[in-house]
Amino acid sequence: MTQHIAVLPGDGIGPEIIEQAVRVLTSLGEDFRIEEQPVGGAAYAASGHPLPPATLDLAKRADAVLFGSVGDWKYDSLERSLRPEQAILGLRKQLGLFANLRPAILYPELANASSLKPEVVAGLDIIIIRELTGDIYFGSPRGMRTAPDGQFAGEREGFDTMRYAESEIRRIAHVGFKTAQKRNRKLCSVDKSNVLETFQFWRDIMTEVGKEYPDVELSHMYVDNAAMQLVRAPKQFDVIVTGNLFGDILSDQASMLTGSIGMLPSASLNESGKGLYEPSHGSAPDIANQDIANPLATILSAAMMLRYSLDKAAQADRIEAAVKTVLGQGLRTADIFEAGTTKVGTTEMGNAVIKALK
Ligand code: NAD
Ligand code: IPM
Ligand code: MN
Repeated sequence: MTQHIAVLPGDGIGPEIIEQAVRVLTSLGEDFRIEEQPVGGAAYAASGHPLPPATLDLAKRADAVLFGSVGDWKYDSLERSLRPEQAILGLRKQLGLFANLRPAILYPELANASSLKPEVVAGLDIIIIRELTGDIYFGSPRGMRTAPDGQFAGEREGFDTMRYAESEIRRIAHVGFKTAQKRNRKLCSVDKSNVLETFQFWRDIMTEVGKEYPDVELSHMYVDNAAMQLVRAPKQFDVIVTGNLFGDILSDQASMLTGSIGMLPSASLNESGKGLYEPSHGSAPDIANQDIANPLATILSAAMMLRYSLDKAAQADRIEAAVKTVLGQGLRTADIFEAGTTKVGTTEMGNAVIKALK
């Protein structure tokens, strides 16, 4: 049966890295129908909106979505609803993609590319589960205004609302516990319950849901400590579950344990298992159009798509093995380059992965 994949390249390095991931998918010899639409700044430039109806419609119709990245400094002064980032936020919300899985795995070949000592990161294999459709990202009210009252009355102020409903915490908690059950049965919930009501509530609900999983060891950690522990002794973690904002920050941090943000894939899933797959990094405008971006996070995101949404675990394994092979051959994009390895560009890295698949 033909599987329908929506491809949304986006901005900056998005089209370059997506091109390689699509070539890898195509070379698997499977029956995929790949349909592309613009998203983010590219869509705004073409039609005046970062998430045009045709793009959203394609994402809804497809069996899975492969997403590049959105954003460019030149759009930063647009009114917020028209900015490229609204496209990815809108897709997450409209498709109900509440569970974001960001695995941080250190390939042994990259032990020296990590900014931490090899012995601190050797064998690292953790996963951050980030809640993706709630928290301060989506809470209202939010805005800028003249403060109506209080100490700063009459001054301009910006404000956002941090909130989580019980059902939102429960469903991401279940994803966390179920993921832990399939791994080392250790779940660390990261919060800021010492200061924030939202995250005291989060901790209470995590503890309640934990009673349904007596085989999983649940621990709690404040986010500031978690940030420190992630660089002090990252292997103490197995599965981390946290809110949208903390998960955004901690996953970028965790990416450096694996050598580069260009190595960190992600899956964003909804309740029916539909998913959007994207690298954890952004559109990297500073290196766009130079054929130097690392396409591996996107290629590994495509592998996650095969595993989680398209029921093709064997093909996912093949891609992951091919990535290991090219790293073993010493091929490196600039972000993971070190003395003694061979520097390659985005396209060459894609070529090498495809060759290694065969
Ligand atoms: P970024 O992740 O785009 O880049 C941060 C740094 O990492 C840059 O130095 C960049 O060159 C480098 N980098 C990122 N991906 C790389 C890759 N594949 N290979 C090699 N180097 C890589 O973050 P930023 O600079 O803070 O944001 C740039 C734009 O991307 C902003 O508009 C931001 O809003 C957007 N953004 C989008 C997404 C998304 O689409 N999901 C995610 C994060 C940021
Ligand atoms: C990410 C990005 C997005 C986020 C932005 C671009 C909206 O940083 O996917 O991690 O904050 O979620
Ligand atoms: Mn981010």
